[in-house]
Amino acid sequence: MKLNSLHDLFVHELRDIYDAERQLVKALRKMAKAASADDLRNAFEEHLAQTEGQINRLESVFEEFDLKPKGRTCEAMKGMVEEGKTVMDSAADEATGDAGLIAAAQKVEHYEIASYGCLATWARQLGNDNAARLLRETLAEEKNADAKLNALAEGRINAEAGPTAEPAKEMRTQGDGRSEHNGHHRAGEEENKRAGEMTEARSDMAPI
Ligand SMILES: [Fe+2]
Repeated sequence: MKLNSLHDLFVHELRDIYDAERQLVKALRKMAKAASADDLRNAFEEHLAQTEGQINRLESVFEEFDLKPKGRTCEAMKGMVEEGKTVMDSAADEATGDAGLIAAAQKVEHYEIASYGCLATWARQLGNDNAARLLRETLAEEKNADAKLNALAEGRINAEAGPTAEPAKEMRTQGDGRSEHNGHHRAGEEENKRAGEMTEARSDMAPI
């Protein structure tokens, strides 16, 4: 289909992310089962519930534009899920598997952050503030999910997966470890805030 306008591009991307989220529901169920650390499994289960809500929100966005919800195969998500599976199948131990799962999930989150950032900006440019608000709500959830994964990875799981366990050593010897964990969380959120802003800024500059 030829994309003749920003509206066409918006609908094209909306269908892509709608399919991506539906693929992700299936993948997250498998990822939660595959995770060996309890906190990682909980994080996947929590994001699974959130993703189901995001699918409903996308259906409302379709309605905002008088369209029937319809997906268009997201090849990127298919590829990311496939690569994640390969890493999982090759991991020799549980901690390495968990670190690989986090990496796979973060790649997905960053893809979604870019997509929702563009869609929210385009919805606003197309004059649909309700749709823009819904898309920004999901964008905030995706950034939050990414920050949580950062905190899990940097706080413990990466350290257990490899011999260079410096962050974990620091965490165990400095204070109660909790503030260190939270510190990483905040750093992750800051990075994500910047990434999201860049995405929005870039789509603002799109010469359309
Ligand atoms: Fe999502």
